[in-house]
Amino acid sequence: MENFAADNSNDWKFPREPLQNATMQKPILCIGATPALQRTMEFERVKRGEVNRARKVTLSPAGKAVNVAIVLRALGSDPMLTGFLGGETGAMMRNLLTARGVTEQCVEIPAPTRICTTLMEDGRNTVTELVEEAATPDDSEWRALSARCRDLLPQAASAIIAGALPPHSPVDIYAMLARAAREAGTPLLIDSQKQPLLAALTHAPLLAKLNVHELGLTFCRPMRSRRDIIETAQELQRRGAQWVLVTNGARTAFLVGEKSACIFTPPKIQTVNAVGSGDATTAGIAAALLAGDQMPEAVKLGLACGAANAMTLTPADVNAETARSLRAEVAMRPA
Ligand SMILES: Nc1ncnc2c1ncn2[C@@H]1O[C@H](COP(=O)(O)OP(=O)(O)OP(=O)(O)O)[C@@H](O)[C@H]1O
Ligand SMILES: [Mg+2]
Repeated sequence: MENFAADNSNDWKFPREPLQNATMQKPILCIGATPALQRTMEFERVKRGEVNRARKVTLSPAGKAVNVAIVLRALGSDPMLTGFLGGETGAMMRNLLTARGVTEQCVEIPAPTRICTTLMEDGRNTVTELVEEAATPDDSEWRALSARCRDLLPQAASAIIAGALPPHSPVDIYAMLARAAREAGTPLLIDSQKQPLLAALTHAPLLAKLNVHELGLTFCRPMRSRRDIIETAQELQRRGAQWVLVTNGARTAFLVGEKSACIFTPPKIQTVNAVGSGDATTAGIAAALLAGDQMPEAVKLGLACGAANAMTLTPADVNAETARSLRAEVAMRPA
């Protein structure tokens, strides 16, 4: 395997131009079909089967693509969110996104945006998630999202697809969006798994990113060793992704390109809550690519953002300064 430094296959997509370049002013399009209104309830202790009174309740915008957009904003990038929003909860999402500086062009649907509830308890570093599934969009709603993406993709510096599809969705939705991105000449990063991800690879996304567990599920194979992970990531790469990144929480992450593979060790941190670290990773990579980094270097900022996210209780609460200083602690070596 050649050294990763020689693998510049994203050169043509992200020219090393100064920040003033027109590309830099274009937004990063974040596409996610399952946004959620997050209700975080804080308790001294939660006891099942009893009346539990919350000390504090906070509403925030959530969902994979929403998390990516929020972290991009924290990093000083310009995200543009699209997906589905509906009902009063959708209207609340719009207000909350505006308050966080995230611009959105979501498709309005009749089904109310789902509410997901997080229970936090004093002195515990784990949270309890009560997840409502997103409503299944009908054909006309998917067509509306597809049209919205086709409008927005040519104006975007890059695009990110993040998260699972709503239950009972057509498996080729991401493939259709990946084709639209390719036709628009907009580099695509996709964080998904199983058939929707595999189908999208045909359209050569710049990066396919997933965690080790999702990689195993995608190929119905146990991931027992580094060799298993690298070989399976290489299979994803051969199916069409230009780069494949496989993360595993605090453990080693693997980046596979056409001519190279490398191994990253994330920074050592005090873990508080790692939910959303994958989303923060995607955001960090996209921001670094846009600033002119090559993929392996961009992954360093991504993993640092993932670690910075894990240091805080709230998903997508990433401090840009912390992430930039953690970047220096990400170790990278050829596989
Ligand atoms: N406990 C941790 N310590 C250090 N870094 C972490 C930790 N958890 C996550 N990270 C960083 O974030 C990256 C992505 O994390 P992870 O593999 O947990 O993503 P994920 O499973 O896709 O998460 P999610 O889907 O909830 O966003 C890791 O590769 C690592 O760099
Ligand atoms: Mg993830």
